[in-house]
Amino acid sequence: MKDKLMLKDNALENKTIIVTGGGTGLGKSMATAFLHLGANITICSRKIEVLKNTQEELIKETGNENLHIVACDVRKYEEVENVLNETVNRFGSFNGLVNNAAGNFISPTERLSHKAFDTIVDIVLKGTYNFSLASGKYWIKENIAANMLNIVTTYSWTGSGYVAPSAAAKGGVLALTRSLASEWAKYKIRANAIAPGPFPTQGAFSRLFPEAIHKQLDPLKRIPLKRYGEHYELANLASYLMSDFSAYMTGEVVTIDGGEWIYNAGEFNAFDNIPQEMWDYIEKEVRGKNKK
Ligand code: HXC
Ligand code: NAP
Repeated sequence: MKDKLMLKDNALENKTIIVTGGGTGLGKSMATAFLHLGANITICSRKIEVLKNTQEELIKETGNENLHIVACDVRKYEEVENVLNETVNRFGSFNGLVNNAAGNFISPTERLSHKAFDTIVDIVLKGTYNFSLASGKYWIKENIAANMLNIVTTYSWTGSGYVAPSAAAKGGVLALTRSLASEWAKYKIRANAIAPGPFPTQGAFSRLFPEAIHKQLDPLKRIPLKRYGEHYELANLASYLMSDFSAYMTGEVVTIDGGEWIYNAGEFNAFDNIPQEMWDYIEKEVRGKNKK
């Protein structure tokens, strides 16, 4: 990934950042970029074996040994506090948080048990406010200028059927981002969000675009740029938002989705499929209606 990074090698060297869910997928890619750029990183998630493998791989790839791992279920506040304590013990303090851990799967809402609903909302929303609250208390007490980045989705604001618990929770995370950006600016704490469109990861694609769905809905067909996102593209955006180069940005959500949500929202965008010759006919017909 190093040759695809846009920031200078030392852009994050004054940063210590906790990345939740950093053992796999987009969290792992962001952690890789941050390590290349000189940050100290803690990654946490439930599966310690996954974290150990990622730690070994990323230290080898980036040459940066300042990568700490802690097992944690983001739903449990004591475990969240333990991640913060371990990070402070290892690196002296911390000044960055990426709320990336998530749970999700595709399902008609009426088929969900109440426990299934709880599971998704608890991982996504409770996990994010647990980490945000514990970190904010620490930063304010220690008078540390700090920065939070929350990974949401484009259906945080449109909502979406078949992922209702995730949509409800991600909408909550976006509201939390904007709320804390306003309230904690006085403490020099920033909060921004990234809303990715489809980026291939095992975790997301196996649960949201299983083979059976692909025949009904090809996610690529919904994206006007006609490709998925590359992990380094999201990692570069996250690096910028976690760096001091974005110091004047807070309360913002940046979409990175190849134009997907806006394309599918726009009333007439499906007219892309109308051939040029037909536009000649349409123009004639429409002009014919003009009153002289
Ligand atoms: C219906 C289901 C289900 C399914 C689980 N449940 N899978 N119900 N359909 N496919 C129900 C279970 O029966 C149980 O309810 C409850 O949900 C909790 O399930 P557990 O397996 O006990 O939960 P847990 O072990 O905590 O696992 C959490 C998980 C799992 C969310 C279910 O998928 C997971 O670990 N996910 C983590 C990674 C992930 O989801 N990544 C994708 C993020 S992508 P009962 O009533 O039976 O007890 C994303 C946005 C992508 O967020 C946007 C793309 C554009
Ligand atoms: P992923 O690889 O499945 O990442 C999710 C991570 O969250 C995993 O590492 C998982 O690790 C961790 N996690 C889940 N439950 C947890 C819990 N209770 N406590 C601690 N950690 C937990 O999927 P991804 O695609 O990279 O998703 C990363 C983020 O991007 C998510 O916020 C997702 O909503 C967002 N996103 C992804 C896409 C996409 O297309 N990929 C699009 C829009 C938004 P463990 O299983 O070890 O706990």
